[in-house]
Amino acid sequence: MSATSISKALTPPDIQARKGSTPIACLTAYTTPIARIVDRHCDLILVGDSVGMVLHGLPSTVGVSLDMMIMHGQAVRRGAERALVVVDMPFGSYEEGPDQAFRNAARVMAETGCSAVKLEGGETMADTIHFLTRRGIPVMAHVGLTPQAVNTFGGYKVQGRGEGADQILNDAKAVSNAGAFCVVLEKVTEPLARSITDAVATPTIGIGASVACDGQILVIDDVLGIFTDFRPKFVKRYAELGREAETAISAYAKEVRERGFPGPEHVFADAVKQPRT
Ligand code: KIV
Repeated sequence: MSATSISKALTPPDIQARKGSTPIACLTAYTTPIARIVDRHCDLILVGDSVGMVLHGLPSTVGVSLDMMIMHGQAVRRGAERALVVVDMPFGSYEEGPDQAFRNAARVMAETGCSAVKLEGGETMADTIHFLTRRGIPVMAHVGLTPQAVNTFGGYKVQGRGEGADQILNDAKAVSNAGAFCVVLEKVTEPLARSITDAVATPTIGIGASVACDGQILVIDDVLGIFTDFRPKFVKRYAELGREAETAISAYAKEVRERGFPGPEHVFADAVKQPRT
C-alpha cells in the first residue's frame, strides 16, 4: 500500500499504535509547498523550531518565538492532508510550568490547526506532559540532545555515552509514562537507542540515533542538500538542491548581465496577432 493511497488524516493514537511495526517516516517542513510534498510520503510533519536556524539564519533555536512557530505552523497545516502535523514549542514558552505550557500550547493548536505539540526535556517535563495530555493536548517528547539547551550542553554533542545513558533512559521512561504519544531521541548512541526503544511503550523517533528506533526524522533542508557547507554525520542527503540552486542562480545572473534573459518567448507583445485567413 503506498502512502498516497491512504486518505484519512493520521492522529496521535495512529502514530502511537505503530510501536514496533512499520517504521514511522517523519520530516520537518516550514512552508506550504514543501509540506504538500512531505505529506504525500511521510506519516508525520514536524514544524520544528529548527526553522529559526534553517530559514531565519539564527545561530541556535534559542531565539525562536511563539509567533514564528504559529506562522510556520499555519503554512504547513495548509499543505497537509494526511500526515500528522506537530508544532514545536519554542524555548521559553513552556518551561515555567504546566499552566504556562497549557496556555501557549492551546494557542498553538487553536491558531495553527495542528494536532499535537513537541517539547524538549525528560524527567523535568514529565508533570507538564501529564498535565497537557490530560487536557486534550497530545505531546511528542524530545530527549537526548535537546537543542534548546545547547548552552547548557556546551555544543551539539552526542549524548548518552558512559554515565549519561541512565539519565536519558529515565527521561524516556518518564515522558512515556506521562503520556507522550511518541518521543524523539536525538544524537544518542545506538546501544542506548536500542535499550530505550525496548524499554518504553511509546514509539521512539530517531535523529542521529540509529535504526534501532520505531521511526526516523530529519530536517528537510538537510535531506534536500540545501546547505553546501553543513554535513552532520547522521544526515543522509537524498538530493543536492543547494548545488543546483547555485548553478541556476549563477546562470540567471549571467544571462541578465548579457541581456540573454528575458528572451522573445518571455515578452508580451503589444497586440495579440490574429492568424491570417
Ligand atoms: O526542530 C527540529 O527540527 C527538531 C528535530 C527533531 C528535527 O526538533
